[in-house]
Order: sequence, then structure tokens, then C-alpha cells
Amino acid sequence: MTRRHTFCHGDWESAAIRLDEIICAHSGEDPFEEALKLLVAKLAHEMDAAGVTFLAPRRADGAAREVNRLLRAAGVRWPGILDPGATTRLSEPEIERCASVLNCVRFLADSLVGLDSIFEFMVGKAAKGQKGQYFTPRHVIAEVVAMVRPAAGECVVDPACGSGGFLRHAILQERRCSVWGFDQDPRALRVARVMLAASGQATARLMRVDSLRRPEGRERAGAAPVLEDLMRAHEPSFRGFDLVLTNPPFAGDVGSEYAEAYELARGHRVERDVLFLERCVGLLKPKGRLAIVLPHNKVGAQGWAYLRAWLLERVAVVAVLGLGRNTFRPHTSQKACVVIGCKRLQPTRHYRDEEILFFISERDGKDQLGRLAFAPDKQVVDHDLAQATPLVRRRFELLRRRA
Ligand SMILES: C[S@@+](CC[C@H](N)C(=O)[O-])C[C@H]1O[C@@H](n2cnc3c(N)ncnc32)[C@H](O)[C@@H]1O
Repeated sequence: MTRRHTFCHGDWESAAIRLDEIICAHSGEDPFEEALKLLVAKLAHEMDAAGVTFLAPRRADGAAREVNRLLRAAGVRWPGILDPGATTRLSEPEIERCASVLNCVRFLADSLVGLDSIFEFMVGKAAKGQKGQYFTPRHVIAEVVAMVRPAAGECVVDPACGSGGFLRHAILQERRCSVWGFDQDPRALRVARVMLAASGQATARLMRVDSLRRPEGRERAGAAPVLEDLMRAHEPSFRGFDLVLTNPPFAGDVGSEYAEAYELARGHRVERDVLFLERCVGLLKPKGRLAIVLPHNKVGAQGWAYLRAWLLERVAVVAVLGLGRNTFRPHTSQKACVVIGCKRLQPTRHYRDEEILFFISERDGKDQLGRLAFAPDKQVVDHDLAQATPLVRRRFELLRRRA
């Protein structure tokens, strides 16, 4: 029997579950599509009429008509999120039930935290497991972005951007940086577009591509453009990124087509995060900064020593943050870490005397069931990563002065 969920303000998962329940139980429509339309309509409404109730109960002109009017406006304002001419497929009573949930939330006033959480639920647990789509908890993202500090005018990318968490936080830190996101999953990209649109950014900077395809393999793979081609279509002078922030997929098979294009794959086991690591280093300009989430074994296991040597030759690793086991729960209890560094001007084998900060998180901001753990004042997530932030910043500063 399905458990019935009651929505209480601030409990975003309950809101997401309630929306899903109403749409699945009553309409038989695709819950992702229909919820996305309602969320986009709600966001468009908040942008134009803050403080006014989204869909007042029993509107004389019909709730569906108002939703469709907002969807038309959103389609013009934010291309690439909805299909052209998209309209709600829900009935008046279904929309009114969903509105009773949505009328209790304010996405913009809440800095999009609620919208982000509802999307994370919507992307679906099953899809996450298969494709390795475990979105990074936002308190981890916020802290990592604070460590690497995007600067005005810098070009920032996430080549596996999912719902765009790293990109949104980069903008929150520095509005004058330019952010670019790539992902091969159209659903995740649409979500990222909503999040960036709501932050006032151009949705055209989020593009669908297999980020692992490299310019060198372009001919073999046919005419489809690779990430660099898409970038140059927007920025003809593109030569690389200043900052790569990413949590690449860990799970899933990798086709043999990549084996030859990647140095780290030659003669070794091919794993997607390993290919992404090599790709991210390749996308950076010399002196560009990197923050990448990797499975814990990549920094500790003997079998991956060749990967660490490869990385240290090319990147001055500034810090390794060991994340707690609850960080990616409830989706997985796999341990992960964040590797943070700066790309060298030239590869070197003389890195053995360089100091690396190893920080092991003991409060990961989640409980064993994967629920966010709040500090006693209930306002902020209870985690200890912020202790590492000034240390990482100082190391970047030292590196900059030495260069
Ligand atoms: C672990 S999720 C991380 C999402 C995001 N960085 C975050 O933390 O919220 C990995 C993302 O990589 C995407 N992905 C997997 N393989 C890819 C590929 N070859 N090219 C582009 N994106 C890919 C998936 O669709 C997924 O959205």
C-alpha cells in the first residue's frame, strides 16, 4: 500500500512525493513531464507576480488556462526547457491538488533550494543508479566552490553537469564568471536549464553532448560535434577553461571506443570516472583550477597508483577532501573524495616534495538514511567541510605567488 505523504513547508521531499503521487495516481501522465511544466509555470509566475498566489483555489478562468498562459511565456523566455507549444495534460482537479502543494512554496525567496530538492527527487532513483546520476549534495558543492573561488571573467565548466549544481553555485559566488554545462542526459539538462534560467543565466550555455568524445576521435565517430566544437560555435577564441568543477559518473559500462583516445585507459581497466579525470585535465588551460569528485579508491588503492602518478605530473594537487559515507546516501554509501588542484604549465616528475592537504570529513551533513542533518539552530546543514576552506584557499594563494 502506498504511504500517504503530507506536505509541510521546508520539507521538500514531501512536496516532491506529494506532487508525484497526485500526478501518478490520478492522471496516468509522465510525472516528470507534468511536474516540470507545473514547476516552470510556478517559477514564471513568481518572477512576474511575486507575493500573489500562484493558482488561487477555484479560479473563475480555470487553472489549466493560467498554467498554459505561463508555459507559453516561459517557452519564449527560456528556450530548450519545454517542447514548443507544451500545455499541461492535467485536469482542473489535478492542477488544483498540485497547486495546494505549490502555493505553500516560494522558490525564488528560498534561493531555489526547494526547487533544486524537488528536481533531485524527480530525476528518479532508478535512473540515478543505472547512470551514476548521484547529484552532489548542495552543501558539499557550496563549500568546494568557495574553496576554488571562481573569479570575474573566468570561464567555468561542468562536463557532467546533471542538474547544474556546481554551475549555479559558481554564479552564486561570482555573477561575472561565465558558466558552461554539458551532459548527455536531456532530462538532466532541462532541469539544469530551469535552475540557471531562474538564476538569470542564458540556457544556451547548457548543451547535450557525450563529453568523453574528444576532438581526436571526431572522424571515427562521424560528424557529430564534440564539446570543443560546441564551445567554439559560441566563443570562437575558446582555448580551454579556467575552472573545471564536476562530479562525473562512477557507475556504468564504458565502450571500447574510448580506450585508444585516453592515455589512462591504455593497458588498464576502463572506468568512467578515470576517463572523465583525464578529460577534465585536458579541458583546462594551463594554471586552470580543478575540483573533481572521485571514488575513494582512486586516492587510496594500490591498484590506482599509476593514475595518481599521471595526475600529479600534470596537476599540482592542493587538497584531497575525504567525504563521509553518508554523503551520497540514500542513493549509495560508496565513499568518495574531492580532488582539488591547479594544472601545471608543463608536466613534471618533480612533485614528491609538494605538500597536499588531506582533510577527512567527520560530519558529512547527512544521517545514515541520507536525510540532511541540521545544526542545532536548524538553519544550516551540520557539516565540517568549511574548516578546510581557508586552508585550501591559502594553498592556492601560495601556489599563485610561487608561479
Ligand atoms: C554523478 S552525476 C553528477 C551531476 C552533477 N555534477 C551534480 O553533482 O549535481 C553525473 C552526470 O554525468 C552525466 N554523464 C554521464 N556520462 C556522460 C558523458 N559521457 N557525457 C556527458 N555527461 C555524462 C549523467 O547524465 C549525470 O547527469
